[in-house]
This record gives sequence, C-alpha cells and structure tokens, in this order.
Amino acid sequence: MSREFPRLGPELETAIFKIVQESLTNVFRHAEARRAEVRLEEQDGRVFVCIADNGKGIAQHLEELQTGSYGIGITGIKQRVEELGGQLVFRNTAPGTTVEVRIPAKSARGQSVVGRLS
Ligand SMILES: Nc1ncnc2c1ncn2[C@@H]1O[C@H](COP(=O)(O)OP(=O)(O)OP(=O)(O)O)[C@@H](O)[C@H]1O
Ligand SMILES: [Mg+2]
Repeated sequence: MSREFPRLGPELETAIFKIVQESLTNVFRHAEARRAEVRLEEQDGRVFVCIADNGKGIAQHLEELQTGSYGIGITGIKQRVEELGGQLVFRNTAPGTTVEVRIPAKSARGQSVVGRLS
C-alpha cells in the first residue's frame, strides 16, 4: 500500500531532519558499516524514525544511554526527542547499531499536525 506521507509541521520536520543527519554522521564517523538504512513511518498519530547500520555496534553503556557515555551529537538527539514528548532507543543489533525514535505527531502547542497535506 502506498500513499503520500503527510507533512508534519516545521518543528517536527526539522527535528527529524537533524536526528537523521546526526545519526548518519555517526554511522559515517564511527560505525565502519557497509550499509545504512533510514526508515520513516507515520502510524496511529506517531512518527517512527529508524536509522540502522551493519557496522561494529555500540557498547552497552551507550545502548543504555547512561549519562556521560555519549557526546554532543546524541545529547542533541535526546533533547529534541524529549522536547517533543517522544522516546529514543539505541540498540546494539550485532552486527550494527539501530537508532529508533518515536514522536507523537502533535506540535508542542498541542495541535494535531498529522494529515495536513499542504
Ligand atoms: N552508528 C554508530 N556505530 C558505532 N558507534 C556509534 C554510532 N553512533 C554513535 N556511536 C558511538 O557513540 C559515541 C557518542 O556519539 P555522539 O554523536 O554523542 O558523539 P560523537 O559523534 O563522538 O561526537 P559529536 O559530539 O561531534 O557528535 C561515539 O563517539 C561513538 O563511539
Ligand atoms: Mg556524533
């Protein structure tokens, strides 16, 4: 089934762009991967973003997002996701790393922004 992906509003679209940009920069700089995949889905009022690579993976302390185990890049991703009321999960997928982000498709002002196909 294919249909047009809805516009999500500038705040959410910018956040998703920055999250994917930082995650792909991390794949390039750290993963030693041969392959990376980005998925973007909208389902039941939530946006799901997934950046997966088949590289060397991440250590457990990073997977658990323990404070102090990551740098400015992941801090930025975490802040954006939290500001938008979403969840961030890092998985060591052996081989590789997967970053999963789920964000409610509502703006911080509480307006529904899903389905606006402008
Ligand atoms: N896809 C990945 N594969 C392997 N290791 C990763 C991956 N993404 C992140 N990491 C590890 O997580 C660490 C923290 O990432 P983070 O983006 O916070 O900082 P950084 O990339 O080192 O520096 P910067 O603050 O410039 O982004 C990295 O140094 C790296 O060790
Ligand atoms: Mg980084």
